[in-house]
Amino acid sequence: VQYDHLAKILLLGNSSVGKSCLLLRYTENRFNEAFYSTIGVDFKVRTIVMRNKSIKMQIWDTAGQEKFRSITSQYYRGAHGIMMIFDLTNKDSFNDLDAWIQEIERYGGEKLAKVLIGNKCDLEDKRTITFEEGKAYADKLGMPYFETSAKDAANIDAGFVKLAELIIAM
Ligand code: GTP
Ligand code: MG
Repeated sequence: VQYDHLAKILLLGNSSVGKSCLLLRYTENRFNEAFYSTIGVDFKVRTIVMRNKSIKMQIWDTAGQEKFRSITSQYYRGAHGIMMIFDLTNKDSFNDLDAWIQEIERYGGEKLAKVLIGNKCDLEDKRTITFEEGKAYADKLGMPYFETSAKDAANIDAGFVKLAELIIAM
């Protein structure tokens, strides 16, 4: 093999929070303004080097739409890390995090690294969840919290690197 660690990562969260855009930004440094809702599950790979070790991140992008839940639930098996994402301008996507936690508890393994992402921080004037609310929720669950923008690339690397660090430390 050409890497030291393999990290299987799952992107979870409601439809339209920006999971596919975060992945596109992280792996290809591109952004799509149009909304192409994911059907089922997709994945992309990015390999990074941390402390002289290479980490191959295999990132699974799940469909947020409810009707795909039975398909996406099959992908939790063998995952090392989860990026749980909500949209800072969409209160429902924040309120539904409790349901996503239940899904993770139901389908995920025992050892799972997790980070919470509040995405679309470029839309400051449309924000409905404050930084303090997002941070408090993450603290309650013992998860690191990042506010990101797939559009202007803010904090995307930081979120994925943190998740990789947590996975390696497990
Ligand atoms: P599903 O595949 O249905 O689960 O949705 P998703 O979470 O993958 O959402 P997707 O990445 O397709 O993005 C949904 C919409 O939000 C698209 O129109 C994107 O252009 C937009 N979007 C995603 N991220 C951002 C962001 O950081 N800022 C802004 N302004 N728009 C974003
Ligand atoms: Mg998608």
